[in-house]
Formats: sequence, C-alpha cells, structure tokens
Amino acid sequence: MTKTQSNPPFEIVITKDGSPSLAFFKDGFSQMMHSSKGAFSETEFVYGKALDLAFEHFDSVQALSVGLGFSYVELTAVARKKSKDLEMISYEKEPRLRIAWTQFINGAPSEFSEVYEKILSMYCEHHKLEKEVFVDFFKSSKFQLKEALDINTPINSTFNCILFDPFCSKFSPEFWTENGLTDFLQSISSDQCVFATYAATGALSRSLKSAGFKKIKNKGFAGKREFTLAIKNL
Ligand SMILES: C[S@@+](CC[C@H](N)C(=O)[O-])C[C@H]1O[C@@H](n2cnc3c(N)ncnc32)[C@H](O)[C@@H]1O
Repeated sequence: MTKTQSNPPFEIVITKDGSPSLAFFKDGFSQMMHSSKGAFSETEFVYGKALDLAFEHFDSVQALSVGLGFSYVELTAVARKKSKDLEMISYEKEPRLRIAWTQFINGAPSEFSEVYEKILSMYCEHHKLEKEVFVDFFKSSKFQLKEALDINTPINSTFNCILFDPFCSKFSPEFWTENGLTDFLQSISSDQCVFATYAATGALSRSLKSAGFKKIKNKGFAGKREFTLAIKNL
C-alpha cells in the first residue's frame, strides 16, 4: 500500500489482479472504490457486460457514468466502441480525481500519473489497442467530466447506457433511496436503455421496474451474490 496526502484521506490499494484502486476514509469508515479481488476485472465483469449490450443494440451510445474514480468504467467504454459512436458524461465529486485525470489526459504531471499509466496499459494490452485511442477520446468533445451529481436535480439529458457506480448506501445514501432512484431513472433514461451497477438492492430493483426496466439475472463478481444489469425496451 502507498499512502497519498491526506486531504481528503485517500490510500492507493493494489487489488488482486494487479490493478490499482483507492480507499476513501470518512467518519471512521473506509470504502474501497472497487473489489479487492480486482478493480480491472470487476469493471470488465460488470460494466463491460452492459457496454457490450449497449454497443450491440445502438450505433450511437450516450453513456452516463456516475463516479469517475480512476476511470476504469470510461476506459472500458472506449475499449468497446470500435466503429460505433460514443458520447460520455462522467460525474465525479472529488476535485482531486477530476483534476488529476484531466492533467494526465493533457500530458501534464498529475498526482495519480503512475496509477493511470498502469491502468491504461492494462486496457491497451487486454483490448489490443494503442494508448492514443483512449487519450484522443478523452480529449475530444465526446467526453465531458462534471462535478458532483445530485440525483434529485434534473440534468436535462437522456442516456441509453447508465453506468451507475457511486459508493454504497452506507457511504453515499443519497444515491440509493427508492423514490430518488425511480425519479432519476425515469428522467434520464432514453426510450431504450441499458443500466448496470455493481450493487443489487431491493430498492434498486423496485425503482428499475417502476422506470420500465427489466432485470437480467447475473451472478456478481468474485463470489458476490448478484450485480444489477437491466434493460428497457430492448
Ligand atoms: C466506486 S467509486 C467509482 C469507481 C469508478 N467508476 C472507476 O471506474 O474507477 C465511486 C466514486 O463516486 C464518486 N462520488 C461520490 N459521490 C458522488 C457524487 N455525488 N457525484 C459524483 N461522484 C460521486 C466518489 O468520489 C468515487 O470516486
């Protein structure tokens, strides 16, 4: 483990498949951004499946990513787009993560450069793609990075692929209430849509149903009971 500066307190953790993740500390709790069994592998397992479905059904994918973190979800999306069109809006509350990623993409020194190089090299190797394919996408107008998302405030855009990766309900309860989720999903999902998250809760299932989604049963990553993959009108 490598310690980073403590403002807010972050700690870089290397997960079992060799990919880096970050632990956040708040009010005596710590929360890892990914499974300790593998940040890269978990992202491919959960969000990769959703993106495969989205690119299979749509020539143009408008993706929403909630929680940029170390950008695994974003990289997975770019790796899968091939000749299809991808537009992506990502939200990230922590300024340090937004700043570090933007600096890195623009070739400037960044707090997490080493981490990003490692993650990017895993995507290049796994998907047999050049680094420029990723960097060019993030520098383009197809990608927008925004600040904190408030799911109770309408964002006036709709998406056909929702990659929902905020922290769990203990750390980020505002994302997991049934009424909040239902309104959010109804307002931001296109007529046809794919939704994925690592979590599986009763409130989420009910919200997805109310918003017109149908769940596709999937075992969770690395022995977890389930993750949530759902489709609307597909
Ligand atoms: C599970 S991690 C995301 C991991 C990330 N998807 C990746 O690919 O590395 C959750 C992230 O959500 C961010 N977050 C928490 N609350 C948020 C909010 N209201 N709006 C945007 N991001 C938020 C956290 O700062 C953290 O980086």
